Amino acid sequence: MSKDKVKTVFFCTECGYESPKWMGQCPGCKAWNTFREGLDSKSNSKDSSFAKRNGIDNSVIIPVSKVEIKKEDKIKTNIGELDRVLGGGIVWGSLTLIGGDPGIGKSTLLLQVCKSLGESGKEILYISGEESHAQIKLRADRIGEFKDNVKLYCETCLDDIKEVIEKEKPDVVVIDSIQTMYLEDVASAPGSVAQVREATGVLMKIAKGMGVSIFIVGHVTKDGNVAGPKLLEHMVDTVLYFEGDRHATYRILRGVKNRFGSTNEIGVFEMRNQGLVEVGNPSELLLDGRPENTSGSVVSCSMEGTRPIFIEIQALITPTNFGIPRRQSDGVDNNRVVLLLAVLEKKLGIPLGNCDAYINVAGGIKVSEPAIDLGLVAAILSSFHNKPIKEDTAVFGEVGLSGEIRTVAQTEARINEAAKLGFKKIILPLSCKKSIRDAKGMDLVFIDNIKDLKI
Ligand code: TYD
Ligand code: MG
Repeated sequence: MSKDKVKTVFFCTECGYESPKWMGQCPGCKAWNTFREGLDSKSNSKDSSFAKRNGIDNSVIIPVSKVEIKKEDKIKTNIGELDRVLGGGIVWGSLTLIGGDPGIGKSTLLLQVCKSLGESGKEILYISGEESHAQIKLRADRIGEFKDNVKLYCETCLDDIKEVIEKEKPDVVVIDSIQTMYLEDVASAPGSVAQVREATGVLMKIAKGMGVSIFIVGHVTKDGNVAGPKLLEHMVDTVLYFEGDRHATYRILRGVKNRFGSTNEIGVFEMRNQGLVEVGNPSELLLDGRPENTSGSVVSCSMEGTRPIFIEIQALITPTNFGIPRRQSDGVDNNRVVLLLAVLEKKLGIPLGNCDAYINVAGGIKVSEPAIDLGLVAAILSSFHNKPIKEDTAVFGEVGLSGEIRTVAQTEARINEAAKLGFKKIILPLSCKKSIRDAKGMDLVFIDNIKDLKI
């Protein structure tokens, strides 16, 4: 056997478990049929210590208290909504992955980031493996004027890209997209698990070793995961997802993982002719076009990071014509809806077992905070009884399995925002009463059980 033969291993695309043989089921995460062949990461680096591999000299042992930190200056992109999601700005030498459906605006956002950073004097290299110079220029023209320190490079060979980055020494690099990049040493095609994994490894080395901040665009699969190994998400420092309805004009950027900030912040943008424009008050946009005096429509409030977002929950409850009743939800967890339907059936005796239930959060936003439970319950009851809830009413609170209404955090922030948006009445948990100092002239209705919800 020749000494420099490249060894391959099989690894699980879900959890990254490595094995010398292919296996049907992963012993690590018990997922089936997730093993793919890839390059052995140990075989091509003599020194496998993380720090050495990443070009960082962290091999000394010192007490935590003695570690000196060069002030962690973050690079502000001056796109407020993005800075918020990133946790204040781009960290030097960080690797950020941006995922999202095709055409949602990943390339547009990153080009805007390049423009903005270019204006603050940073050296930028935008590397595209998908579009030609002319195509990028067309998009750039829509966005605005670019300074000369923003440079384009159309290439897919990562070995060449590495050399160029080492020569040019840019401050920020954009790789659009990781699925088009390939390394010559890896035999499989670009976009394959092995290529994506190795390419990300190389980019991480560049980022940590040279202190270059790198943005990677990642395509997503049909079920909304970044194509390629889940491992990719483990490797990078920050993962951002673009979500939202491609047919609607606004887009939501959500932090899924962030080593340098909180993950529950969202940034809201609107796609216009001149690129993505920040939306300062997302609730207004999400509630825009709400039907008046219609049953099954309720406004609820979800805290997204530090910001309360008001959303419209719509429910449609119809008799089941035959077979098993359908439960379908968009924007909220279907299991949560099923659970709340069961609570309503048991505690209020409403025969929802004979009804189909369709739930939708208007605007394509996905919400997961339990505080919207009471909003869901109110929408379901409103549709079932065919009784509208007044448009100036907002509802929030967590619902427990015995129908009790539990407290939610940051009640005052929610009330303040509701007042700003022009709501007059709020139905909320009784246990929130003690934390409220200023009701902002709002009619507050405190309840502690879903039995008290009068619809
Ligand atoms: P793009 O950034 O190319 O998407 P991705 O890289 O995520 O695949 O965005 C493409 C969409 O955005 C396309 O449908 C056109 C639209 N768009 C605008 O509406 N206005 C603009 O100024 C730009 C640049 C794009
Ligand atoms: Mg693109």
